[in-house]
Amino acid sequence: KTELRLGIVGLGTVGANVAQLIERKAELLAERVGRGIRVTAISARDRDRRRGFDTDGMAWFDDAVDLAQNGEIDAFVELIGGSDGIARDAVEAALDRGIPVVTANKALLAHHGVALAKRAAQNGTEILFEAAVAGGIPAIKTMREALSANEVNRVYGILNGTCNYILTRMEKEGIGFDACLKDAQALGYAEADPTFDIGGFDAAHKLAILTSLAFGSEISLESIFIEGISKITIDDIAAATELGYRIKLLAVALKTDSGIEQRVHPAMIPARSALAQVDGVTNAVAVDSDLLGSILLAGPGAGGAATASAVLSDIMDVAGGFVPPTLGLPPSRLQPYLRARM
Ligand code: HSE
Repeated sequence: KTELRLGIVGLGTVGANVAQLIERKAELLAERVGRGIRVTAISARDRDRRRGFDTDGMAWFDDAVDLAQNGEIDAFVELIGGSDGIARDAVEAALDRGIPVVTANKALLAHHGVALAKRAAQNGTEILFEAAVAGGIPAIKTMREALSANEVNRVYGILNGTCNYILTRMEKEGIGFDACLKDAQALGYAEADPTFDIGGFDAAHKLAILTSLAFGSEISLESIFIEGISKITIDDIAAATELGYRIKLLAVALKTDSGIEQRVHPAMIPARSALAQVDGVTNAVAVDSDLLGSILLAGPGAGGAATASAVLSDIMDVAGGFVPPTLGLPPSRLQPYLRARM
C-alpha cells in the first residue's frame, strides 16, 4: 500500500503532539497498519511558532479550508476547535472531496455531528472522533464497537478534565478557584475559552455525543440542562466532605418513561464510590446496559499526549482501512437514525 498522506489543521497542544508522535513513532505505526503515515500538509494560526517536529516536506497553508480543498492528502485531521467558522468549513470541504476526517472537536459534533455524519456517508467517506469525548479514554470505540449488542440505560461520568482538576485542587490543597483555573490553562487542559469548561458547556458537548451513540438518538444539545462549577466555593467542598461526599461536575444521560434525560451539573457523590476517586484531570465514563451491567472507564481526559493517543487511533483506523459505523449507526441505517426522536 502507498503511504497515507495527512493534512493537519490546528497545531495547538493536541495538533503539535499528533505531528510529533507521527514523526517519533513512524516505524511502529507503519508496522501496525501496514503502510507509512506522513503529514504532508499543515495549517495553523501562526506560521513561525516552533512546535517540536520537522516541517520539511510539509506544505504550509495559511487557510485551513484551502488545505482541505487543495492539499495533496488522503485524510484530514481537524484540531482547530469551535462549532462554526473555519473548523466547520474545512471539515465540510474535506468531506465533500470524499476525504476521511479525524477530529477532536466536540463542539462541532455536538452542534453539527448528524449533518456531518450524513455528509460523510453521502460522499462515501467517514468522520472519526475518538478524541472528542473524554480525551484519551476509548469511550467512542467502546460505545460503538464493544457495546454494540447492548441496550444502554444510562451513561454518565466526569467529562471535563479542567473542572475536575479545579475541584480536586480546591478540595485537597485549599487553593482558590481562579488560581486552579490558571494552572489548568498553563497545563494545556482548558479550552481556548475556559468558559466552555467551567460553564459546563464542554461536558455538555461530550454528553450530547455519548447520548447519541448510546441511545441511537439524534444529537440534542438544546435539551441538556447545564450548570457549571463557577459558583462552587471551598466552603461548599468542605461542607460536602464533612457529610461524607465529594463534589464533582457530573454529566448524565438516562432513559426515562418520557424520553432521554440529559444534564450536566455539580453533584454530591458518596466519598467512597468509585466515581468519587476520580481526581485531577482524569475523566470517567460509566455505562449501564442490559447485557454488560455497569462498566466504568477512567483515564486522562485532557492534555496533549493522551488526546493525541485517541487521534492517532482514528488515523490508524483510516490508514488500515477499518471502517467503523458512523455516529451511532452504519451509513445504510443513517436515515432511520436521523429520524429517531426522543
Ligand atoms: N478542556 C477539555 C477538558 C479538554 O478540560 O476536559 C478535553 O476535551
